[in-house]
Amino acid sequence: MTTMKREHNILVLISGNGTNLQALIDACAAGTIPHAKIVKVISNKKDAYGLTRAKDAGIETTYHNLIAGGYTKKYPGDREKAREGYDVDLAKLITTNEPKPDLVVCAGWMHILSPSFVDALQAARLPIINLHPALPGQFDGANAIQRAWTAYKDGQITKTGVMIHYVISEVDRGQPIVTEEISCEECADEDALEAKIHAVEWRIIVQGAVKALSSLP
Ligand code: GAR
Repeated sequence: MTTMKREHNILVLISGNGTNLQALIDACAAGTIPHAKIVKVISNKKDAYGLTRAKDAGIETTYHNLIAGGYTKKYPGDREKAREGYDVDLAKLITTNEPKPDLVVCAGWMHILSPSFVDALQAARLPIINLHPALPGQFDGANAIQRAWTAYKDGQITKTGVMIHYVISEVDRGQPIVTEEISCEECADEDALEAKIHAVEWRIIVQGAVKALSSLP
């Protein structure tokens, strides 16, 4: 008797071009991420090209934005409350999605997630992973590639890298799933380093998703 493997549903969060989303779409289609389907893409930016990539692949999309969603108006002058309200609704959008996701992937998601978001997903037993263009603990937060190049030029580092990690409340600090080092010395300039980093990202975001899905109970 053969047992059918359960199909896994992936929900992807994006903010921009969506080249990493494209890597996931292609990997699902090719079976590199086995038995998996992207069921929804959520963007916090209206003009994110990743939304077009998702639509072209027949994937449902949602636009969820702090200002357009009325959160800053609801809590005038209190940005923290506005962000909290936004994050609570983002968590609801994800946990009540039909079909239910098994894994959330932040693929170029440029919004810091608050503890209320992380806690809500944990309560729903829904793992969330993130792509970050730096090695663990090296350049947390925004502009990691630019900061790595400056640090290399200043003689502080010789290598940077890319990681896929589980998301916790501390930005870019969760348990790494896949990491890959990249030598700055082999790059002529910042553009060359960036190109190298992106090529690694497209490969390891797929590896990270496969690993996270295979660790599901
Ligand atoms: C990627 O380089 C990713 O590492 C970075 O945003 C880019 C998104 O590209 N993410 C972060 O810096 C998160 N801290 P994409 O939209 O083409 O996938």
